[in-house]
Amino acid sequence: MGRFLAVLASGCVGGRIGELGTGVGIGAAWIAGAMPADCELITVEINDDYAGVARELLAGDPRVQIITGDAFSVVSERGPFDLLFCDGGGGGADLVGLLRLGGRIVMDDVTPQLALPPGSPLLADDPKRRLFFGDPRLTSTEVVLPDLRNSLLVGTRTS
Ligand SMILES: C[S@@+](CC[C@H](N)C(=O)[O-])C[C@H]1O[C@@H](n2cnc3c(N)ncnc32)[C@H](O)[C@@H]1O
Repeated sequence: MGRFLAVLASGCVGGRIGELGTGVGIGAAWIAGAMPADCELITVEINDDYAGVARELLAGDPRVQIITGDAFSVVSERGPFDLLFCDGGGGGADLVGLLRLGGRIVMDDVTPQLALPPGSPLLADDPKRRLFFGDPRLTSTEVVLPDLRNSLLVGTRTS
């Protein structure tokens, strides 16, 4: 997942990247380590202890802002974004509307359909897949990760 974020972040020349849910900063470190020098990362974490660990991890990188607060409230005032990694908070909000045209949205922690147990309600309706494949502004795909047990969703805003 980190390498996938790095691939996308590395193309954000002069861009702005947002992360909803910093955790302790692992995804942010992958993004910051790959993004061009003229790119900025705004990452938001609701838990101040976690945000503090992330601040230590990324201390000294002036391109990175780690903000404690509700992720959607913060990023909704900082767009448009070239890349949004949605990993905590923002459920039900118009995340696609925060992307510039051509911008990308990513979510992970998705279970591939073939790895779901029989009877899983996610076989019939998965809110994450509904967001990516139901929004006409997005061209999306699901990428199954090498362990075959996890996948991610990525979409590009085209309108
Ligand atoms: C899966 S972890 C994030 C991991 C991180 N993105 C990474 O790749 O290393 C999800 C995080 O989202 C945070 N979170 C949950 N709801 C949130 C909200 N409304 N606003 C900001 N952060 C939130 C949780 O506290 C948790 O640390």
